[in-house]
Amino acid sequence: MASYNIAVIGGDGTGPEVAAEAVKVLKTAATKFGFSVNLTDFDFGGERYMRTGETLPDTAVEDLRKFDAILLGAIGHPDVKPGILEKGILLKARFELDQYINLRPVKLFPGVECPLKNKGPEDIDYVVVRENTGDAYTGAGGFTMKGTSQEVAVQSAVYSRFQVDRALKYAFEYARKYGKKARGKGDKNTLALCGKTNVLTFIYDLWERAFHEMGKKDYPEIARDYYHVDATCMWMVKNPEWFDVIVTGNMFGDIITDLGAITQGGMGIAAGGNINPEGVSMFEPIGGSAPKYTGKNVINPLAAICAAQMMLQTLGEEKASQKIEEVVKTVTGTKLKSLAAGKMGYGTTEVGDMVAEMVAD
Ligand code: IPM
Ligand code: MN
Repeated sequence: MASYNIAVIGGDGTGPEVAAEAVKVLKTAATKFGFSVNLTDFDFGGERYMRTGETLPDTAVEDLRKFDAILLGAIGHPDVKPGILEKGILLKARFELDQYINLRPVKLFPGVECPLKNKGPEDIDYVVVRENTGDAYTGAGGFTMKGTSQEVAVQSAVYSRFQVDRALKYAFEYARKYGKKARGKGDKNTLALCGKTNVLTFIYDLWERAFHEMGKKDYPEIARDYYHVDATCMWMVKNPEWFDVIVTGNMFGDIITDLGAITQGGMGIAAGGNINPEGVSMFEPIGGSAPKYTGKNVINPLAAICAAQMMLQTLGEEKASQKIEEVVKTVTGTKLKSLAAGKMGYGTTEVGDMVAEMVAD
């Protein structure tokens, strides 16, 4: 029987509450589908930082390396200056564990209110593969003459061919396995590169050359599209049904996936995976720590449950992952009044119980 060691970082605000519901569903899926999960809790987050000054210590990174996967609730504390926890915990884990892919499905589930006119679940069903280690996120840059009227700030976008190639390879493989044709939803699998070749003529020139070279050579059956990032935003709103798998750099990926998340019903449902295909991956609901809802049992746990579902897919537990997705669709389609905190018609734990019961069924 397969057995997985899972690290759980509940984190801040409502993070621990939603992580607990995701854990409930993981445990139920394990019993139902014949694998086991051993869970270990870690207390990284704002409270620990204020108590000890520690974000994610180096020793913790070494500990986390030994797990099969990590489930993260949320990071962000109202009493800690923005940037400290994000950089010290979230970005540190992504970088140190070399989670070079940020996989963000944009999927509208039945019954979920969509801000786009006349669009339904058939139309909004694609995935963004965001490169997760390079771009403006590497910290390359600095100030000169800081604090003077002559001050200059530079923050460089950085990409190596190695980083680009490994992200593209993941995206092509993903399109082959889970693209629209592979899922019986179209006549081809399509990978679209989202870039800005008209202005970022170095970075996205590199991406574009690498994209077509790899596509022609190793994935000739996968259709290739290219969109500038600004146009991508436009089409994500006007014609989201055009998209299948999108691959892009870290910064554009950050931005377009928030747009994508709102088209699929928002932070109550959007999940993502920080993936190292050769190492330890970390799965998280995209929403924040929602401090004002903490401890009230009103926050929507479905995004965290979807993060657990992505974890199982990445670990190779396809059946369990598919079942959870089906159940989430049933819950959004037939049970919840809304995805918004306090408006679901159920409490956080009730939604978790409901999903778990239906997964066990
Ligand atoms: C995200 C977040 C992070 C990012 C922040 C919190 C550092 O916006 O996961 O998309 O920019 O990657
Ligand atoms: Mn973001």
